[in-house]
Parts: sequence; structure tokens; C-alpha cells
Amino acid sequence: MDKILVTSALIYANGPVHIGHVAGAYLPADIFVRFHRLLGSDIIFVSGTDEHGAPVSIKAEKEGKTPRELVNFYHDQIDKSFAGLNISFDNFSGTARPYHHKISQKFFKALLDKDFVVQKSGQQFYCEHDQRFLADRYVEGVCPFCSADGARGDQCDSCGKLINSIELKEPKCKICGKTPIIKETSHWYLELPKFENMLKEWLTTKSYWKDNVINFIMGWLNDGLIERAITRDIDWGIPLPLPDTEGKVLYVWFDAPIGYISSTVEWADKIGEPEKWKDYWFDPDCKLIHFIGKDNIPFHAMIWPAVLMEQNDPYILPYDIPANEYLNIEGSKVSTSRNYAIWVDEYLKYFNGELLRYVLAANAPETRDADFTWQDFQVRINNELANILGNLANRVFTFSIKFFAGEITKPLSLSVATQTALSEAQAIITEIEACYRNYRVRKTTSLIMDIARIGNRYFDERAPWKAVKTDKSHASETLYLCLELLRMLSIVMSPILPVKMLQLRKMMNLDDEMSWKYIPRDKTVYYISNIETLFTKITDEQIDEQIQLLEKVQPETAPLVHKPEIEYDDFMKMELRIVKVLQAEKVKKSKKLLKLMVKIGSETREIVSGISLSYSPEDLIGKKVVMLINLKPRQIMGITSQGMILAAADKDNNLSLITPMQDIDDGSEVS
Ligand code: 2FM
Ligand code: ZN
Repeated sequence: MDKILVTSALIYANGPVHIGHVAGAYLPADIFVRFHRLLGSDIIFVSGTDEHGAPVSIKAEKEGKTPRELVNFYHDQIDKSFAGLNISFDNFSGTARPYHHKISQKFFKALLDKDFVVQKSGQQFYCEHDQRFLADRYVEGVCPFCSADGARGDQCDSCGKLINSIELKEPKCKICGKTPIIKETSHWYLELPKFENMLKEWLTTKSYWKDNVINFIMGWLNDGLIERAITRDIDWGIPLPLPDTEGKVLYVWFDAPIGYISSTVEWADKIGEPEKWKDYWFDPDCKLIHFIGKDNIPFHAMIWPAVLMEQNDPYILPYDIPANEYLNIEGSKVSTSRNYAIWVDEYLKYFNGELLRYVLAANAPETRDADFTWQDFQVRINNELANILGNLANRVFTFSIKFFAGEITKPLSLSVATQTALSEAQAIITEIEACYRNYRVRKTTSLIMDIARIGNRYFDERAPWKAVKTDKSHASETLYLCLELLRMLSIVMSPILPVKMLQLRKMMNLDDEMSWKYIPRDKTVYYISNIETLFTKITDEQIDEQIQLLEKVQPETAPLVHKPEIEYDDFMKMELRIVKVLQAEKVKKSKKLLKLMVKIGSETREIVSGISLSYSPEDLIGKKVVMLINLKPRQIMGITSQGMILAAADKDNNLSLITPMQDIDDGSEVS
């Protein structure tokens, strides 16, 4: 049996949780943990709030609170948000707790005693106006590596590199905006170069790590490791366990990952087995897996393992670090300082947490940045959860109750069609298992929906509404297979939709333990009762309301998010032509869609375009616009759309169609 210790990056207790946090470090971890619980692995899941350092003290100063008041407030709020999303930590701690201080000081001392940490005098920015050293985020400027503006004293958000703060160009004090001076101060440095060989050797065993993590680390190693100060001149943090060091605290990034240990220690205490944390942290067979966002890679893959390597106790090192990319929102980067984010506590006032779990799983930023849009949220809930999974459950349950009083028994023998559907589903489940193991939540989600699609197709093909009149056993077999699929789905989907799947199982009166090993168990009889709708569709009004909320806080100049570079040949694959609009009308039951008939030289085509909020049908008739004509046809509200009209969208989502400057024949190619 696998023994696994899973952690999610400790979130700063200086603000609420936004959906980018969830998509990066929490949901993927929770899904992985829930999957392993189904397998029966010995797994625990710990996290907590990161409560020290400049991020917290700056915010406290801004809000006129003490740092402790601030972290207590946000810790509770964050805890509630995660509960609302059904994130199932075994323990969720906080780094300002005594457990954590004690362990962190012990870690520091061990490194100091072995000369892996040494005291040195060094240079720091100092603000003469505020009379303080400017640690980390207290100073901002231009990144010395990528020249991005707004780089912080410890790390640049644009290129992700760690910065030695005095290298910042055009530094400014974050409190008063003045240019700081450079002043000598004494600090304790982690001698990273001394770890270089050990780290290199250790990394040779990590060929299975994700590419983004390996690439980052290789870049670091190639640049050569340098010593890093692990103490700071601020008054909120963990005091150094040394005499005459008042005013110095441990650097927040030194103590934060130790929070994984202190959270496990706290968990062991809570369950009344205070030594049990060692069963994980000291067992070389235990797999330590850190779920993080990509900005946390250098700390987890280099500095943290180095710190663990030279402790006096036999700590395990990270087994894997599945780092995720970023989640943008409506095409723009999240910016907490500009309040451009979707906050979980706000979200939960409008929608169920499970819906967000599904959408973030289906669109997980695993290998590249992903974009969350409210429209995609609506489409996924309505067209996938409601129309595919919810519909399967609903039609099968309703039918079972109507024609079989809710009792469906296993047929004596299964027809070929039934056996085929079953084995197709089983093959997909094997694939799902592999994807779950490899943190491929995006793929898992789409495979799971494929099982529901198999169920719907099979149901349609066997038309039990007809068969029930002539051959009741045929109809009953159809229902039996669909119920088998729904039972399997209730297990394989439960890591993603834990509460909804329990609700599904309740309607099916499944009271056996939820376990991966029971997936193949074919039941002899199903009882269906007390059915209710699993997924309600999201209306256009609900989505418009959310977009408006987001627009209220949208900054004037949100930074542009660029797509990856493409080859010229990629561009040339697109067939863009001028088309003339012959007819235009609104699509029934849709606020956004227009149906257009367009002429392209000798051809005419029908397309659906989401421009109704910006153009009325009369505006368009006779107009010439640019269209992508070799886009694979798509079904939109029952209409086959054979192309896409090009339009520009501004930050308020006002659309402007692209039209030729001079009159030109329709059918003309655009390149
Ligand atoms: O980047 C952050 O938000 C940090 N609070 C993550 C810390 S992760 C771990 F080391 F605790
Ligand atoms: Zn200042």
C-alpha cells in the first residue's frame, strides 16, 4: 500500500482565497488525495496559512491591524472558503502557532551548527524616511533579469526569478515611495553552493518530474547557486534562537515549508497520537508530494530540499512537486493588488462549490496557463454536467421509477450492445486511473464525461421508451447497464465532485463503502428513490451578473496576456476571407447569439456568432466582414455554424467587427 504525504502551498494569510490559488495548489491536491483514499492508500493531506513576512506585515499596516489580528481574520476566512469547496485537509494549520515557531528554530539551529548557515554582513535597502530596512516586498523596482516593472525585492512575478533585493533597478520604498539608500546590516545566509553536488545528485533521480519544474531547476543550476539570506530585519516573524538578535526574524520563505511539518505535528496531536507524524516524515518509503503554483518552484525544488538534507532527524525529501501554471481570468492576469480576481468567498454566495471544482478541473492549468471565463463556466455546467451527466441520471432514474417502480434487476444474460458499452467504459476507467495517478485532472475530467456519453448514446440507441411497450426485459437491461455506469461514475467522479456523487449514490441507495476496488462489482439489483435534480442550468443573467462584478474591479490597464509564439505555417493554416452578410436574425432563447447567412464568392454559409449584444440584425445585412472559413463546423443551439466572424473585444467586452477599408469582392482572401 502506498504511503503518501500531500501538501498544498501555504497561502499567505493576508487576503481571501481566489480561484487561481484553488486551481494551482489546492484542488489538484484534493483530487489526488481523494483518489488515493478510494484506492485505500495511507495518505494524509496537510496545509495551512503562511502567516509571517512582509506580505502579512505590509497588509496589516495598510489595514491598521496588528499582524496577529490580520492573520487570525484571514485564516478563518480562508478556512471557510476551502470548506465551501470541499477541500478535505487532514489538517489546516498556521505558521504563527507555537508548534511551528519551535520546529523552525530547531531547523535553523541545525543548519547553523553545521555551518550551512553563516552570519555575514551584507547590503540592504534602507528607507531613511521610514527609518527601516526594506525587506522583500517592502521594496519594488525593475527586475534585473527581465526588466519588468513592479518586481518585488524577493522575486519577479514576470520571469519568476528570485532577486537579491539590492540588484533591483529603480528601487522604491513600498511604504512612502521614496528611493531607499543602501546600508550594511548583518544577516544569516544559507550556503546554497555547499549543497550544489548533493542537489545535483538528488535531481538525477527526478526524471519523472514535470517539465516546468525540471526546466526551472536546470536553469538555476546552470546559473550557479548563490548564498541566500534567511533572516530579515522586520518585527513580525520567528525570532532567531540566538542571543542579542532582537529585530531579526527568520525569512518567511525559510519557515513557510517547515509549516508542512508543523501542520503534520499538529494533526498527530489532534488525533491523540503525538508521535504519528514521524510515520510519514521519517519513513523513506513515504512519498512527499508538494502541490504548488509555478512561482513557488525554486523554493520547493532547491532551497527546501537543501534545508531538509542537513537536519539532525531523518526527514524525507520531496518525492514529487507537481507545479501548476497560472489561471488567468477573462484573458487577463489575476491581480490581487488591483482586486482583479474571483474570490472564493464571493463565488460561494452565488454558486455551489462543486461547480467550480468541476470547471477548474476540466480547465486545469497543468502544462500551460489556462483562462477562466464565465461563459466557459456556464457552457461546462450546462452542456457537460447538466446535459450529459445530469441528463443520464435523470432519464434513467425517472424511467426506472415510472416503469419499474424504481427496482431494476440484473438480466440473466447481457446482450452484445450492453457488453460493448460496459467494456468501453471499463477501458476508459483504466485510463482514468492512470491519469489520476499522474495528476492529469484535465484529461481525467473529459474521460469521465465520455463514460456518461457512452451511457446516453446507448440509452438513445436502445430507445427504452419504445421497448418498454413490447419487450420489457429489453428496457430493463438498458436501465441496468445505465445504472451500472452511473454507479461507476459515482466512484470515479467522486474525487472531483465529492458531494454531488454522494447525492447521486443516495438516489441509487448505494450504501456500500466508496472504494476503487468496487468499481467492477456488478450489482444484482438497483433501487432508485427520492430523485432530485443533480445540476441546475446556469442562466445568461447569472453569468452577466458575474461579468459585471468582475468588470467593476477591472483595472484600467490590465497587463496583456500573450499566447505562445506560432510558426508562419500555423498562421497560414487559417483560411480567412471577406464575406457578405445576406441575412441576420436573433437565435431564439439566446441573448448573445445571431444566426447569419453569408456569401463567400460562389458559396453561401450559415454561421452563429456571439455578437448580438453589440449588433442588431439590421446593422449587419449587406455588410462585409472577415471570417475564418475553415474552422471545423460546430453545433451551437441546434444550428451548425460553419465558420467564425472576426471581431475585436475591448475590456468591457464591447465587440467591433473587422471590416475591409475599401469595398472588395466577397470571397477575397485575407492574409
Ligand atoms: O507564494 C505564496 O503564496 C507562499 N505563501 C507559498 C508558501 S508555500 C510553502 F512553502 F509553505
Ligand atoms: Zn520609505
